[in-house]
Amino acid sequence: MLDLRQTWQIGPVEIPSRLVLAPMAGVSVQAFRRQGRRFGAGLVCSEMVSCAGIEHRNERTLGYLRVGADEHPLAIQIFGSDPSVMAEAARMVAAAGADIVDINFGCPVRKVTKTGAGATLLDEPERATQIVAAVAGAVDIPVSVKMRRGLENGSRRCLEIGPRLVEAGAQTLTLHPRSARQMYTGEADHSLTAELVELVDVPVIASGDVTSRVRAQTVLATTGAAAVMVGRAAQGNPWVLRELLGEGEEPTQEEVVAELVLFMRETVRELGERRATGFLKKFYGWYLGRGRFPRPFKQELVELKTVGEVEARVFETVPGARFVLTRIEQEQPEVDEVLLDDMPISIYGGG
Ligand SMILES: Cc1cc2nc3c(=O)[nH]c(=O)nc-3n(C[C@H](O)[C@H](O)[C@H](O)COP(=O)(O)O)c2cc1C
Repeated sequence: MLDLRQTWQIGPVEIPSRLVLAPMAGVSVQAFRRQGRRFGAGLVCSEMVSCAGIEHRNERTLGYLRVGADEHPLAIQIFGSDPSVMAEAARMVAAAGADIVDINFGCPVRKVTKTGAGATLLDEPERATQIVAAVAGAVDIPVSVKMRRGLENGSRRCLEIGPRLVEAGAQTLTLHPRSARQMYTGEADHSLTAELVELVDVPVIASGDVTSRVRAQTVLATTGAAAVMVGRAAQGNPWVLRELLGEGEEPTQEEVVAELVLFMRETVRELGERRATGFLKKFYGWYLGRGRFPRPFKQELVELKTVGEVEARVFETVPGARFVLTRIEQEQPEVDEVLLDDMPISIYGGG
């Protein structure tokens, strides 16, 4: 058995385990990342942040650059198609306190690809390498790139472009070996990950369908990747991270509710009550599903109007969760809230 608790390096940044929490739009808020670190992820990532949004100082976009003291090491991911705008965004990401700036060459969603960003860049190797070179030249922190196998099914484009991105300055590559066309259907073909590992002399992170300890071990052993990335399996389920590390037990109902409530409270603090109310709805099913609670319970929660009502209802159902929550809160490190007010002046474009 490989020990996933081994440390490894991305440039000078030490990563304390071979488990990386995936960037997921609409999911990877600060509460998700902090929880991931607590459960053993060695590296956590922000969801993709628009470099144009950063350039225009869009308030919501800048909110994504909020970094908590207990998130490190943290990668902030940016997407865009203009090398100079990406370079400027990377400077802001570094100034915000990220340890790594990650570039998205994988997003298959039309809203992103039609702007020339995300996975389309796999078909534009010149521009892709220019982006990586511009970003690497702009910041002192390591640059990583996350990509899909290519645009079309069966594509091997990632193997052509990967070494060029490393030459341009990428210090790590993450591969999700599905095509953009596949979206999330079919299976991740990690034989491509193994080929990529052979071609480059930087660490490769394997992303896609890592859902169990056995799977994580198989992917690491058969690809030579430095780490595995976990995405959907960790939605509402931080316990999978412990399981992957070989220390997991199924959570009790008290633990599930305590983690859910902590997540809700932190998300309300981060996004504000109004945005958090809608954002959290998908998490109720993710936390309470997996056979942990009867199905109608989730439906009941989704229909409640406020996050406060949801909290009251789950505590009423599982009173013991209050004690577990108190214990978790006591064990949490003191966190200086790094709010927008504390961000470098440059992020506001003035002073
Ligand atoms: C809801 C959702 C949002 C995602 N958002 C991003 C993103 O912002 N940036 C990115 O590089 N990948 C994104 N991904 C892809 C994941 O990081 C990961 O590569 C993919 O889900 C495969 O891993 P999994 O099988 O462990 O989920 C997203 C995936 C999902 C399901």
